[in-house]
Amino acid sequence: MSYKNFYITSPIYYVNDVPHIGHAYTSISCDVMARFKRLEGFDVRFLTGTDEHGQKVEKSAISRGKTPQQFCDEISAKFRELAQTLNLSNDDFIRTTEERHKKSAQELWCILEKNGWIYKSVYEGWYAVRDEAFYGEDELVNGKAPTGADVEWHKEESYFFKLSAFQDKLLALYEAVPDFVQPASKLNEVLSFVRGGKDYVKGALRDLSISRTSFGWGVKVPGEESHVMYVWLDALANYISALGFPNTQDPLIQKFWCDTTDSPVHVVGKDILRFHAVYWPAFLMAAQIPLPNKVFAHGWWTNEGQKISKSLGNVIDPHAELEWLKTFGCDDSQAVDYFRYFLLREVPFGNDGDYSRKNFTTRINAELANNIGNLAQRILSMVYKNNDGKIVNISYYDDAKELLEKAYKLPAEVTFEMNKFAFDEAIEKIVNFARACNLFVDQKAPWTMKKEHRYEEMNMVLSTIAESLRCLAITLQPFVPTISARMLDLLNVEKNQRDLKFVNGDFSLKADHKINEPKGLFPRLETKTT
Ligand code: MSP
Repeated sequence: MSYKNFYITSPIYYVNDVPHIGHAYTSISCDVMARFKRLEGFDVRFLTGTDEHGQKVEKSAISRGKTPQQFCDEISAKFRELAQTLNLSNDDFIRTTEERHKKSAQELWCILEKNGWIYKSVYEGWYAVRDEAFYGEDELVNGKAPTGADVEWHKEESYFFKLSAFQDKLLALYEAVPDFVQPASKLNEVLSFVRGGKDYVKGALRDLSISRTSFGWGVKVPGEESHVMYVWLDALANYISALGFPNTQDPLIQKFWCDTTDSPVHVVGKDILRFHAVYWPAFLMAAQIPLPNKVFAHGWWTNEGQKISKSLGNVIDPHAELEWLKTFGCDDSQAVDYFRYFLLREVPFGNDGDYSRKNFTTRINAELANNIGNLAQRILSMVYKNNDGKIVNISYYDDAKELLEKAYKLPAEVTFEMNKFAFDEAIEKIVNFARACNLFVDQKAPWTMKKEHRYEEMNMVLSTIAESLRCLAITLQPFVPTISARMLDLLNVEKNQRDLKFVNGDFSLKADHKINEPKGLFPRLETKTT
């Protein structure tokens, strides 16, 4: 087993409507983790894509007068575009209407059938198209799904998956791998569903209807053309389709599904945890395919305190937020980096959070513009103006040594937080380090040293901070990739020396290393008055 392979997936998004902040959030979190793991030296594969089958998509296409395929092509392209806009480093983008996926989903079906886990019967019960989920009578709240979605009564011939047979196996899994579901607080919800309440109730897990006959927009059930596969069985298979399944000898599947220790990781929103933490492992167990390592469920954003919903008209469009940021003078990349930073910094991953432009502005100004940006700006321009852009030998002062020790400890501290998906805490470590640097500068007051012609001391202070900024910028890369790269460019750090392993004294900026002319990296979010 190799510790150095890492596979991370975002959910694949329904193409019934254009992307919004929820999609951006899930994808950005995966991207930051993927970039961080690459920085740590992992061989990473990051997958995202679109979920294109099912009744919801079919209905949306019809209501817009399009064929489902036309409609899917259009909306899927918007998700692909968003991935580029947000600077996602995904290695693949899968669509469930692609042949490679259909083949994989059908083969998964065949294996489940061959292994005896599928039987034909009649489904009679509630179905919520919005959730693409079946609900028991006992789950309804005031005649609606627990999510608030409308339900319809369905009676149709259907194939079933013997989910009930996996109750004990699933419970054994959660016990054997306590962090299979993260954050830990979400595990109770899963346990309660599988146990059928607080205490174990045998048979609480009902068999799952996995095929539909009342509409046709889906992957055909092998050997039974009048049935299409239940959209969640189809969709979940995407995680292995993209690695080459059903060819289990495919190097990708070998490397990223089998030969990996702390992945595969599925990052999902809390609303779709059940599908990933219950159905998906059950399907995989039934097909005798190894299980993922972790399912991480993040929280939901509200908009200025209000639940986000189409009917309230308060859906947050990431593009609109980027445009808003540009009104402050951010270029495209700075706007994207700020958006990424705010989403991951503002709320502990796993909790719900409130999106407000006021908080956005405060956060960015305090931590990026005034703290890190100001540090870089004032120090690098002094290096550039006063010492011909050159670094001198550092580490003369004891407190400079202390500061650099802190710098060299950053990767370990940040890795510790990232291993828990604590993005906010990881950022906090970096921000705190920048605060320590600013304090050092204020105490040493290099501008006074300059006035008093104490040039050697001044250059030592400046060079210490330049080296600190090198370490800081390397560590900050996953969160704000473009601005960090610009900072490393200013510092004239080689492109192949930007991994975490270079954050130590052996690779420090050496005497006579020349930096480039500083430019503003972090614009302040303030309305400029003329
Ligand atoms: N197609 C399924 C996933 C299949 S994965 C095999 C699906 N698609 S979705 O488009 O509805 O999912 C969107 C993702 O966005 C989910 O992870 C969901 O939790 C997330 N969000 C939707 N609204 C959100 C917020 N308001 N805030 C944060 N995330 C939200 O589910």
